[in-house]
Amino acid sequence: MSIDPAFHDKIQNIANLPTLPQVASHLMRIINDPQTSLNDVTNIVSQDLSLSAKILRLANSAFYGIPKSITSINSAIVILGFKVIHTMVLSLTVFDMFPEENKTSSKLFNRSSFWIHSLCCGLAAKMLATRIQNRTLFDPDEAFCAGLLHDIGKVVMEQYMHEDFHRALKTAKEEKIPVWEAEKKILGYTHTDIAEVLIASWGLPLEIEMPIIRHHSPLEKNDYTDIIILCHLADVICYESGKSMNPELIAPQIDDAALRKLNISRLDIESIKEQLPSELEKSAVYLDIASGY
Ligand SMILES: [Fe+2]
Ligand SMILES: [Fe+2]
Repeated sequence: MSIDPAFHDKIQNIANLPTLPQVASHLMRIINDPQTSLNDVTNIVSQDLSLSAKILRLANSAFYGIPKSITSINSAIVILGFKVIHTMVLSLTVFDMFPEENKTSSKLFNRSSFWIHSLCCGLAAKMLATRIQNRTLFDPDEAFCAGLLHDIGKVVMEQYMHEDFHRALKTAKEEKIPVWEAEKKILGYTHTDIAEVLIASWGLPLEIEMPIIRHHSPLEKNDYTDIIILCHLADVICYESGKSMNPELIAPQIDDAALRKLNISRLDIESIKEQLPSELEKSAVYLDIASGY
């Protein structure tokens, strides 16, 4: 997507726009290198004590359902694998970049509801990926991470472009149009444009980056269309399950062409909606961590 240079400068000039913590960017650089050893990953992760504690907390939670207790980063990596640890580090460090103490309270944007919506989207994306894994090459953990981070541009807008964002939210509510449409109409850019600038230097795998940037235009031709559609469907599933950012805002619609493209039926969607509450319960620890508990 081409971004208006004036807009690009505007966001680049925002002071203190968070950068990805070093532990996550370092891990990102080495994780797909076949030379990377268990010790390399353990050493990087262990440098950050608070992150390590959160990883152990997550690894021992119902979300992963590991029967025996995991007591070290080394065994967490052995049991869960590089890929899971990588997506976990990425999610946890992004939560840290937008701490709760910086939140502003508003009727239109509630940070807790935002994280619930994001987590639901990650879970629905993971369930969709698992369901169609035999037909495509989706990695469920990458799908989870893409879903979890899909609307990250909204937190940036809420924190750094508060007035603009709230004008767009108000318009979305009053005109009953989706938030991204209101953003485009009122501001000329959307939360996905903001996310594109935010994550440009992160070096994310494209399977995570592309859905974050394009989940509101899922059918545009692209090498990553399938994972983008998957994220779009997961997003709509959350709205239809009552896990939107704000119930006063209108839900995006499922595009039937998107369902056909992934060979997913409405029944698949309904069954994922049924499983969502129990999956959400198992992942409560994610929300606690996002809220700083
Ligand atoms: Fe979005
Ligand atoms: Fe969303």
